[in-house]
Amino acid sequence: MEIVREIANIRKIVANARKQGKTIGFVPTMGFLHEGHITLMREAKSVCDIVIASIFVNPLQFGAGEDYEEYPRDLDHDAALAEQAGVHSIFAPSVLEMYPHGCSSFVEVIGITDCLCGASRPGHFRGVTTVVMKLFNIVQPDQAFFGQKDAQQAIVIKRMVEDLNLNISVVVVPIVREHDGLAMSSRNVFLSTTERKAAPILFQALQEAQKLLQAGERNAEYLRAVICKHIGTETLADIDYVAINDLTSLKETRIITGPVLIALAVRFGITRLIDNLIWEG
Ligand code: PAJ
Repeated sequence: MEIVREIANIRKIVANARKQGKTIGFVPTMGFLHEGHITLMREAKSVCDIVIASIFVNPLQFGAGEDYEEYPRDLDHDAALAEQAGVHSIFAPSVLEMYPHGCSSFVEVIGITDCLCGASRPGHFRGVTTVVMKLFNIVQPDQAFFGQKDAQQAIVIKRMVEDLNLNISVVVVPIVREHDGLAMSSRNVFLSTTERKAAPILFQALQEAQKLLQAGERNAEYLRAVICKHIGTETLADIDYVAINDLTSLKETRIITGPVLIALAVRFGITRLIDNLIWEG
């Protein structure tokens, strides 16, 4: 497996694979890989001839005062894991390689990016869609793999692909969790021992909502209150948002009549964790 730093070189690898009639699966990441990322890579490998993964901590999607500088990085370890997962090449460009003139052109999906994480992190999704569009243009994959863990991101990317008629199929892979239910995340390393012990409360709260839904509860405000109350029992948890939104429009739902996204973001000390559940109705 090769680690490729330059856009021109990854283009050559892609062109070569295309010449041989191979299909290309693409897994964009910010690195510090864990089983969640690796699952995307394995999934890509199972349906595409070659898999390219990118590792790029994208400054454009971090707001002022967010953790861009502190974001964990370990390329050697990432390379070993990616190789085991059958990745053909890692594209790991520098910031200068990706943004040699800074960034003056952006891709922005409007409407569905104002709520949830978009409300707490203004400009975040513009940074995500811009870098993913650049990566798509560089790698030109047949299929691209994203995690349900970042549910709003997956919905926004799918909308961008549809709106801009990109010839790429977007595959969304279920959330991979630790044994105690905590959704795997590169940011989990920031949790202190006590915060780590407390963090599975998020999944437990979502499961409680799921049980109520299964029992027939359809009042979103009530379900939201139950989730908040459950998380509120954990003194270390500081809720950013808990929301129940229509799965397509991402508008807030009052009475659940169709598929919804139950999403939450909660701070434990300096670490902001997200988790979600899809109710298909
Ligand atoms: P990153 O946080 O590194 O995540 C890369 C991909 O892995 C995303 O599609 C994310 O949803 C998925 N992922 C992370 N944790 C997961 C888990 N526990 N289970 C399943 N999938 C999981 O998301 C980004 O990077 C960036 O925004 C990026 C798309 C690379 C653009 O910079």
